[in-house]
Amino acid sequence: MNLYKLDDSTTTGIPTIDSQHKELFDRVNNLLMALTLAKGNEEVGNTVNFLESYIKVHLSTEEDFMIKNNYLGYSPHKVAHAVFTNNVFKLKKEFQERGATSNLAIAVKDLIGDWFMNHIKTTDMKYVPFLKDKIK
Ligand SMILES: [Fe+2]
Repeated sequence: MNLYKLDDSTTTGIPTIDSQHKELFDRVNNLLMALTLAKGNEEVGNTVNFLESYIKVHLSTEEDFMIKNNYLGYSPHKVAHAVFTNNVFKLKKEFQERGATSNLAIAVKDLIGDWFMNHIKTTDMKYVPFLKDKIK
């Protein structure tokens, strides 16, 4: 099983953001491992909820930084976050309707892991030159 790993291409250099990104992928990886090890619905459900709650924390942290520092790219970034929030909703729906299946593992990768990795590399990296020296 391929787990997610962050590298230079996903490092913003902003400590708060980088540690939150790491925590988020740790939770994605934990969910993938729970599915690979065929853990029961209850345990998988807990990891889905654990991931979902952290995604909310992270997106609002980033949005607060952007608002407080008058980042001009805020609006399109917020739209991207809304897409991601909808992906989380789809993931939960998949779990609620079909449980801990291989389809759920595919959804975790497509809707959450791959999507978010790409988001960091493209959309997040755009704010780095602007926000890097303004936040810790
Ligand atoms: Fe973002």
